[in-house]
Amino acid sequence: MSATIIDGKAFAARVRGQVAEHVQRLKDEHGITPGLAVVMVGEDPASQVYVRSKGKQTVEVGMNSYEHKLPIDTAEEDLLTLIKTLNADPAVHGILVQLPLPDHLNSDLVINTIDPAKDVDGFHISNVGLLGTGQKSMVPCTPLGCLMMLRDHHGSLSGLNAVIVGRSNIVGKPMAQLLLGDSCTVTIAHSRTRDLAEVCRRADILVAAVGRPEMVPGDWVKPGATVIDVGINRIERDGKTKLVGDVEFASAAQVAGAITPVPGGVGPMTIACLLANTLTAACRVNGLTEPQGLTA
Ligand code: GUN
Repeated sequence: MSATIIDGKAFAARVRGQVAEHVQRLKDEHGITPGLAVVMVGEDPASQVYVRSKGKQTVEVGMNSYEHKLPIDTAEEDLLTLIKTLNADPAVHGILVQLPLPDHLNSDLVINTIDPAKDVDGFHISNVGLLGTGQKSMVPCTPLGCLMMLRDHHGSLSGLNAVIVGRSNIVGKPMAQLLLGDSCTVTIAHSRTRDLAEVCRRADILVAAVGRPEMVPGDWVKPGATVIDVGINRIERDGKTKLVGDVEFASAAQVAGAITPVPGGVGPMTIACLLANTLTAACRVNGLTEPQGLTA
């Protein structure tokens, strides 16, 4: 194995440490405690694990955590009413509605009801537009975490060829905007891309975010490239459940210059960036200086 392993777990712990320090300063100097409200509809087991983890880490960095667990048959009107109440609550600086929502709820309408200034997921149409036009916005957590790791590893990203495999609103598209913002030459590839292997081999930075276990083998990786694996896929192997990424780690690590592992790469950065966004939102709404290095 030749690649440097990018340790997302350690990086996320550093980010949380920076957030905690800044939160303490907000409390001491301004009497402000950032608050994050997480809304979950139904009892999807994976979502429950995420929500529990978010609540725990929110409290650990000194913020207030508010959890709203609603029954799976919650009426859309009731969910929208809750969001409007949270929008108006000065103790709540960040609002996250856990996705996916049950089918009877209109996710776009729900997300676009969140006050954009409190939209710590960066999914509101206003934040999407602000990011796309290079203006100050709330940035989706997973791509923000990827950007932080890339900047840390490379210093400047200017002029590098970045290929993102996956065109989701949550990762692929905002990742492309962020890398463009850092002056990369960006390609978004996807399942219909012709000669995907060849496109990937041109990448100095290869971001895999397709949700297909080990889809990207080592021979799609340019020697020395930085590989960011956003996938978290649960598979059965040798009678055991195992977590794997969208990249075939063993073969890719032979060729890449640097690579994020799964688990322990991008995953831990997502919640760390959610906390960073909540802190950023609390600073902005109070007209205070934003934390350095924790925003795009
Ligand atoms: N479900 C899985 N990932 C996410 C995320 O980043 N934000 C929200 N709101 N829901 C999710």
